[in-house]
This record gives sequence, structure tokens and C-alpha cells, in this order.
Amino acid sequence: MKKQVTTKTIIEMKKTGEKIAVLTAYDFLLAQLLDEAGIDIILVGDSLGNVVQGNETTLSVTLDEIIYHTKIVRKAVKRALVVADMPFLSYQVSVEDAVKNCGKVLKETGAEAVKVEGGKQIISAIERLTSLGIPVMGHLGLTPQSIHQIGGYHLQGKEKKEAEHILNDAKLLEESGCFAMVLEKIPVPLAETITKTVSIPTIGIGAGAKCDGQVLVVYDMLGMFDEFTPKFVRKYLNLSSEIKNAFFQYAHDVKKGKFPNEKESFS
Ligand code: KIV
Repeated sequence: MKKQVTTKTIIEMKKTGEKIAVLTAYDFLLAQLLDEAGIDIILVGDSLGNVVQGNETTLSVTLDEIIYHTKIVRKAVKRALVVADMPFLSYQVSVEDAVKNCGKVLKETGAEAVKVEGGKQIISAIERLTSLGIPVMGHLGLTPQSIHQIGGYHLQGKEKKEAEHILNDAKLLEESGCFAMVLEKIPVPLAETITKTVSIPTIGIGAGAKCDGQVLVVYDMLGMFDEFTPKFVRKYLNLSSEIKNAFFQYAHDVKKGKFPNEKESFS
């Protein structure tokens, strides 16, 4: 069996130049497949609000829901580092809240780390968490929990001032003890500058190939959706049409009396 990935392994991978492969998971079977395929970090993202629960935003995801899904994923994983995404308002209200909620997630799920969105505004919480031995992954650029303030899912850090702001936040995340950070939907030159500036790994999503690793929402890369696909998503499969075909075939077989056959029945 391959060695368990730790936050130290992830930091070491940046030093050796080995790229970090990250995908999201929310259930047992997919998490098991991701782990067996050698994915380094499995993120139980609050994107579950979109792809599992069918909501427009991630804001309604609760702490209990993250705990529920992370427990399931953790049970399936033998090698990868499991990171639980902290839901909206579970870590921003006060440092005490952040410690209580992140601690609860680690205690109850077995995840090895948490992910939080934002920079300067949550630095005191991150400092406290990391000082207590709770590993934290940051998240800058497009931060979906602030979607109503950002006003849409557009590219972040295009203007000079905005780019400087994100770069400063990245330095603060490093200083506060984060072991890695997600960079979402920012221009390639900014992602490259951040990646060269900070000593901890950057994990890009819509941030180009210069990052130390990449993350995608698993259902996006499996092609589970027919509708809009973001520019930064590569579909490795077209599962939605394959699955629909299987369902169609099954319904057809049942209605025509072709399923089950003799071999699939008991005498
Ligand atoms: O919630 C999520 O899945 C995420 C990743 C897209 C980084 O935050």
C-alpha cells in the first residue's frame, strides 16, 4: 500500500516540483475510486451545495452536511489527504467559532485538514487554528461564499489593485501557517507570481498551469452536466449521456419484459 499523504507530503511536493492532483468527492464509491487512482488530496467541497443538493450557491451548506459527507469520504480513503471545506459563516464570525467548528469537523470526521475562503479578514482565525495543530488550506481569487458581494462568477484579480490585494492575501495565508491554498479563476500571470512568491503549494482552478497543483469538481470533469461548462473545466468523460443511455435501456428492458432474464433469476 502506498504511503498516506500528509500536509507535509503536500508541502514537500512543491519543493520537489511534483504536481499535486486534487479532486472533490462527496460519497463513498467515488472517493474510493479517486483514492485508488492516486489523487493526492480529496476535497469534500461545499460545492456539494451545487452538485449534490442542486442549489444556485454554496451558501446554504451546513456544518452538519459537511460533517456527514466528510465522514463518508474519509471511510473510503486509505492514501489521499482528506480536506473538509468549512461552510459559510462557520469560521468567519469569531476566532472562537472557527476553532470550535473546525475542531468539531476534524474530531468527528477524521479529515486531516480544513479549507476556508478569504485572506486578511480571517487571518486571526487561521493563525489560531494552525497554532492549535489544525491544518488549514486557504482559498483566494473567486471565493464562492462571497458571491453576492462579488456579483457573479467572473475572473478575479484582473485590475492591478485587485491583483496586488490577492497577492498580499496569499502572503498572509503563508505567514499564518496555511499548508496550501486554492487559487480560483485568476489570470495566469497572477497565479504564477503567487506560486513563485509563496513557499506553500498553490492549487489552481481556472488559474492556469503554473500553479503547483490543480483541482476540479469531480462531476464537472466526469461530464455529468450537459449544460454550461466553465472554460477551465476539461471533461475527461461524457458520463451524463452514458448514464442516461443506461437508464433508457433499463427502462426499455423492464417495460418489454427483457429484464430480468433466466440467468438473473432464481429457480
Ligand atoms: O467547494 C469546492 O468544491 C471548492 C473547489 C472548487 C476548490 O472549493
